[in-house]
Amino acid sequence: MASVLELQSIRKNRSGDGNVQLFANVSATIADPAIISILGVSGQGKSTLLRLLAGLDNADEGDIRLHNVSQRELDPRIWRMKVCYVAQQSVMLNGSIEQNLRTVSMLHRMPYDEKLVRHMLPRLGLDHLDMGKSAEQLSGGEKQRISLLRSLLLHPTVLLLDEITASLDRGSKEMVEEVLREWHHQEGATMLWVTHDLEQAQQMSSSIWFMGEGTLLENSDTAAFFEHPTSELAQNYIKAPIQKEQPCQS
Ligand SMILES: Nc1ncnc2c1ncn2[C@@H]1O[C@H](COP(=O)(O)OP(=O)(O)O)[C@@H](O)[C@H]1O
Ligand SMILES: [Mg+2]
Repeated sequence: MASVLELQSIRKNRSGDGNVQLFANVSATIADPAIISILGVSGQGKSTLLRLLAGLDNADEGDIRLHNVSQRELDPRIWRMKVCYVAQQSVMLNGSIEQNLRTVSMLHRMPYDEKLVRHMLPRLGLDHLDMGKSAEQLSGGEKQRISLLRSLLLHPTVLLLDEITASLDRGSKEMVEEVLREWHHQEGATMLWVTHDLEQAQQMSSSIWFMGEGTLLENSDTAAFFEHPTSELAQNYIKAPIQKEQPCQS
């Protein structure tokens, strides 16, 4: 069986900085569907790595393979449908909440799964929303969850989650975690989840990717990582995780 996702010696240079690397030699194989947390202090290139995986930006070296098919060989539109990036700051399209949800399905020529939307809205704490309301008027935390639902509608093979619960209150955060845990089990979706919430990483993921020193410094089983991080950098990170910028309004 082909692995789900393979990262082969990926290098990304800093933008506008010639050949100075942001990271290099990032290699990993996800053999079976899994939830993986990506940890590391800010500025290591975690978001950039997710964008490369989603095909929203290009690597300077290396290859990314999904079920053994190279990103270079696949139509970018199809790749982005299979490998979906949920940004930290969600961007809503003009129009209503419902239009935002429908547009994604339309763009990817998939039928709009209204049943899934109706099932998910209360589970994401969003059943109070008037679907005809302008999406721009939503709070940051509501936009975040609508944007997640927009991605779920595509049933991606790999979901790339960029600090998607950082701006949520505890109750909403737990709802999102529960939805994603269940989605992983039911859909067999693989998730790569950037977070600074160590409790979340421990509870949600089976493996940890720790980024530091310009590369993927550690790739370990979650329990092993938290018990015995190999690098001094990871040891310090666990002791004092750097909190990201202030959460946006939710
Ligand atoms: N497309 C890009 N190409 C190269 N460097 C980038 C790109 N996007 C962001 N950067 C730079 O890379 C650094 C790390 O960015 P980022 O991926 O946001 O890190 P993290 O998510 O780990 O905080 C920042 O200094 C940023 O300016
Ligand atoms: Mg980031």
